[in-house]
Amino acid sequence: MRDPSRRLYAESVFARFRALPGSDEIATAFAIEGLVKLLRMDRPQRVIELGGGIGTLSQVILDEMPAGSILTVLERNGWCGARWAENVVIKTLAWTPHRLSAWPDKPYDWPVRPVDLLVVDDWLPLRYDQVEVLLGRRALVFLEGNRPIERCIVREGLRAKGRRVAALNRRPWDRSKGFWLLRAEATRAERLWWGARTLAGRALDRMVCPFLRVRPGWRRRDTDANT
Ligand SMILES: C[S@@+](CC[C@H](N)C(=O)[O-])C[C@H]1O[C@@H](n2cnc3c(N)ncnc32)[C@H](O)[C@@H]1O
Repeated sequence: MRDPSRRLYAESVFARFRALPGSDEIATAFAIEGLVKLLRMDRPQRVIELGGGIGTLSQVILDEMPAGSILTVLERNGWCGARWAENVVIKTLAWTPHRLSAWPDKPYDWPVRPVDLLVVDDWLPLRYDQVEVLLGRRALVFLEGNRPIERCIVREGLRAKGRRVAALNRRPWDRSKGFWLLRAEATRAERLWWGARTLAGRALDRMVCPFLRVRPGWRRRDTDANT
C-alpha cells in the first residue's frame, strides 16, 4: 500500500528540483517515491549513484540513509556537478559523500566496494565483470526509467558469476515510465514474485494501451519533467 507521507515527501523533492535550472532530465516523482521506499526497507549503507545530475536522487539518498553511511556520486558533466554542489543539502556531518567527475579505470579503484545499492540514472561505462565486482552479496540496483542496456549489463554480469537475479518493473497508474529494480542473489520467492508482477504489468499495458495518452513505459508529455 502507498504511504501518503512518502508520496508527499517524494512530490516535495520533485517540486523543489523541478524549479531549479537544468531540471529537464531529473527523475520522476514516481521513481523518487520508489527509491524512498527501497531506502526505508533495505537500509543500504554503501551506495553508488551513477549520474548525479543536479542532485534530485542524491538528496533523497542523503535524507534517508542512516548516519555513517557512504554515498559515492558520479557526475561526468561539469555544469551538472556544479549545480549538484549548490542544490544538495547535506544535513548531517556523519555523511560521507564522495563526488567523482570521471569513472575510475578499474572498479577496484572505487572509494567504496562492494555496495549495497547501485543507483543508475546515466549510461553505465562498465563491462559485465566490472559491474559484478561492485555489487555486494544481496545488492540492489535501482534503474530510473527503462535503461535496457544498463539492465542487461548488470543482469548478465551477475548471471555470468552464477548470481541469480530478480527483476521488478514498477510504473505509475498511467503506465508511463517508472523504474526497474534488480536484486543480486535473489531468493526463489523473490524471483517468482517480482517476475510475476512484471509480467502482470506487461499484460496490463496490452489491455489498457488503446485507452492511454502515453505509450506504456514512455515519458508523459504533460506533467513529466522530461518534456
Ligand atoms: C537522467 S540525468 C540524471 C538526473 C539525476 N539523477 C537527477 O534526478 O537529478 C543523466 C545525465 O544527463 C546529464 N544531464 C542531465 N541534465 C543535464 C543538463 N541540464 N545539462 C547537461 N547535462 C545534463 C548529466 O550528465 C546526468 O548525469
